[in-house]
Amino acid sequence: LKIAVLMGGPGSEREVSLASGKAVVAALQGAGLDAVPVDVHGPDFVLPDATGLAFNVIHGTFGEDGQLQDILEKRGVPYTGAGAASSRVAFDKNLAKARFVAAGVPTPASEIVDVSGGPRLPSFEAPFVVKPPREGSSVGVSIVREASAAMPAMEEAAKYGDEILVEQFVEGKELTVGVLDDVAMPIVHIAPRDGFYDMKNKYPWLGGGAGSDYYCPADLDPETTQRVLDAALAGHRSLGIEVYSRVDVLLDADGNPFVLEANTIPGMTETSLLPKSAAAHGIPFADLCIRIAEISLN
Ligand code: DAL
Ligand code: MG
Repeated sequence: LKIAVLMGGPGSEREVSLASGKAVVAALQGAGLDAVPVDVHGPDFVLPDATGLAFNVIHGTFGEDGQLQDILEKRGVPYTGAGAASSRVAFDKNLAKARFVAAGVPTPASEIVDVSGGPRLPSFEAPFVVKPPREGSSVGVSIVREASAAMPAMEEAAKYGDEILVEQFVEGKELTVGVLDDVAMPIVHIAPRDGFYDMKNKYPWLGGGAGSDYYCPADLDPETTQRVLDAALAGHRSLGIEVYSRVDVLLDADGNPFVLEANTIPGMTETSLLPKSAAAHGIPFADLCIRIAEISLN
């Protein structure tokens, strides 16, 4: 079976995706599989002859939002991970938020601010978080701690589109949970060395960031651990995601989890978060890649 590992993509997470793609190709080849890298720039990408499976590691726009999934379905190529419909919902933080609320999944209170008539303020008082709803890797995200920072944050997020998601800020621990084949795996606790887990603290190798420390499994009491795992799995299920995802969760000081989002094409370098969660579950990186391919084909 020839596996085309689709990486890169036209979006703002291109560099991150190339790193994920290289790691996946190396892992699959190391396991003796016929994996071929394919650098994708847009819809007209060419797959190698006799491709039996597309392994998709294109984060963000085009790769994670259902567009690529639609194209692969039209071409009749089996692909890894969530299908087109669930990808579209999971990638749009506004659509996902509505699903979480409807399903009773705990999530921060929020408001959608339409800025088509120019940037404007939400009705929330600071502190709040401003997010372009259809980006990944914290692109365009700001935490607004005081009123004076609100307008610049809205202006920044408005660069990415006319709808902005504003969420009440939850002070607490940043956690993430890998979900594979409907099982929530151990919690990763992310401790950014400075500020929040933004682009520079996620990928210090891109330059400039202080980086982050990671603890997996997170050091939480058993009840809190279970609450977080239950919330993460409920969030994943409420979006109808197939195969796998990585669910981001905030934990407040009272031990209440708040689901932020489920990432259907999460980072896949050996030191990325889903691989850390899987490793703590007894699934090393190469096995994780193989499991994802196998479950997707079933
Ligand atoms: N959007 C990045 C790649 C992640 O969720 O890991
Ligand atoms: Mg994301």
